[in-house]
Amino acid sequence: MNIAVLGGAGYIASHTIVELDKAGHSVVAVDNLVNSCEESLRRVSKIIGKEVPFVRADVRDAVAMESLFKQNKFDACIHFAGLKAVGESVEKPLEYYENNMNATFVLLNAMRNNGVKNIIFSSSATVYGNPAEIPITENCPKGAITNPYGQTKSMLEQVLMDLQKSDPEWNVVLLRYFNPIGAHPSGLIGEDPNGIPNNLMPYISQTAVGIRKELGVFGNDYDTPDGTGVRDYIHVCDLAAGHVSALKAIERNCGLAIYNLGTGHGYSVLDVVNAFERVNGVKVPYSIKPRRAGDIATCYCNPEKAYKELGWKAQFGIEEMCRDAWNWQKNNPKGYRG
Ligand code: NAD
Ligand code: UFG
Repeated sequence: MNIAVLGGAGYIASHTIVELDKAGHSVVAVDNLVNSCEESLRRVSKIIGKEVPFVRADVRDAVAMESLFKQNKFDACIHFAGLKAVGESVEKPLEYYENNMNATFVLLNAMRNNGVKNIIFSSSATVYGNPAEIPITENCPKGAITNPYGQTKSMLEQVLMDLQKSDPEWNVVLLRYFNPIGAHPSGLIGEDPNGIPNNLMPYISQTAVGIRKELGVFGNDYDTPDGTGVRDYIHVCDLAAGHVSALKAIERNCGLAIYNLGTGHGYSVLDVVNAFERVNGVKVPYSIKPRRAGDIATCYCNPEKAYKELGWKAQFGIEEMCRDAWNWQKNNPKGYRG
């Protein structure tokens, strides 16, 4: 298929382009580079041995989107474009609602105007709030969401569901990602956060490389085996491959389909720190800090549905995730700018 990858220079999208290419699909990457740089796509080109067509554009720009769809004959879109920092979204709600909602409205209009009715949307486990059941299945009701970022994901899921209901020619796949970490095993592409990382794995790897003094572990009094938060970490290459599998659902005209993409295993913060130290032979100094507002104790999924319907399941374990995160970090201590 020929695929428009919106937000194509970002962390998950860059890995997804590698997997799409491997599976024989062609892509056009579109990004305004608000949270990424073109170097990621140059690195992808190195991995796949060919140029990645790139259009620098804001997805909110209706004129640019109309011309993108006029100039290319797309079979489907994978929509990664959005702002994603939970804490920042609490401080800048308008910016988050405006960017994430409007980008999607403009994209969907351009798709409809040009007869492209297949979309894969990057959603998040955050839509489950504090989940009503563990492991989380896709039938688990959505929960109370405590931040504007998560609200945009939940609201956009609803927009896409309503659109699909109004016109059954649409195929809409909502992928609810759990916690993507790690990097391509080549060490050429990986996660390159701006400033102080919000997420656990980049904080661990920046601490191990000496950029940060110590990791703060946010709470050790949760109702979990060691008191620290438990999450379903998934290797970003597995997550990327999940998008290729999701195209199969589109090929058989799935209508609306929702999948959890996770491994089904929960690891605590200290499990991840210990695995990182063991696998990579490095130290990660840490100290226990107060709980972070909005965090929940435990979040991991039941990934059976994606396996049954798409034949997808995660191949990599926590060791590979830690190995590849470190390989990326030590080869690119300053990320793409280094
Ligand atoms: P990322 O920031 O690396 O990628 C998002 C990309 O979208 C960036 O390259 C950014 O420049 C681009 N972008 C943002 N707004 C844009 C706009 N208006 N026009 C054009 N480009 C725009 O983030 P990521 O971690 O790769 O996440 C990709 C998607 O997956 C996001 O939608 C995110 O919310 C979602 N998601 C991420 C996680 C996670 O833990 N990383 C978890 C669940 C869901
Ligand atoms: N943590 C620390 N110290 C840190 C960073 C994180 O102890 O410096 C802990 C958190 O308290 C949590 C765990 O590590 O227990 C994971 O935290 P992350 O910030 O890496 O991930 P979250 O589960 O909080 O959030 C991620 C994405 C969200 C997404 C959510 C849903 O950042 O965008 O997963 O799955 F919505």
